[in-house]
Amino acid sequence: MKVTVLPSLLGGDFGRLADEARRAESAGADALHIDIMDGVFVPNISMGPDVVKMAKKTVRIPLSVHLMLLRPDKYIKVFADAGADSIQIHIESDIDAREVLESIRKLGIKAGITLNPPTPASAISSVLPFADEVLCMTVNPGYGGQSFMRNVLPKIREIRTMLNTLGHHIDIMVDGGINADTAAECAACGANAFVSGAWLYSAPDMAKAISAIREKAGRVLNTKP
Ligand code: DX5
Ligand code: ZN
Repeated sequence: MKVTVLPSLLGGDFGRLADEARRAESAGADALHIDIMDGVFVPNISMGPDVVKMAKKTVRIPLSVHLMLLRPDKYIKVFADAGADSIQIHIESDIDAREVLESIRKLGIKAGITLNPPTPASAISSVLPFADEVLCMTVNPGYGGQSFMRNVLPKIREIRTMLNTLGHHIDIMVDGGINADTAAECAACGANAFVSGAWLYSAPDMAKAISAIREKAGRVLNTKP
């Protein structure tokens, strides 16, 4: 499976977000991850559609827009129009997830289903056929720079098994506390797409840090039985 790396703009310097988006692109990122929070679903407020519009004008890599909102259904068109290439919604939001995933697909972009660390894999099983990617949170969402939660690893393995059983070979993306080592641990369980904020943006050389994730995770994925 292809390993992809997505810097999370939340880890960048908010005084110069356009430069930080460009820095990710020049460092070889596969896509840029943009975190949207409403202060209700998560205890923090981050960015809105105008940041997505700015990123669309600034970089050519795809934009992955992670909606940490109680009612993401009200905003999918807004973010698709702003330039999102994929939208990740949460299974814990106050929505009919299948309906919202289908609406996202109808807008011509990828639909991702996300689950928080305490949420079991079984919560997303019925919507997996309607998802183009799974985003597995490895921290409780709301803030960058938190520690990776290792107890999520068995769930990643469970989700990969569920997807294999369905014959639905989509990306499993992990988000929260990701560095080259934690990425490799997730890859060993079947994750192949890696969102990283604090670690990539604080690295002395982001290109080298992205390559380190690719190499370490890639080695594990390709040697897996
Ligand atoms: C957390 C966000 C993440 C965050 C990850 O709520 O969804 O995308 O930016 O940041 P790090 O890599 O710093 O944990
Ligand atoms: Zn995120």
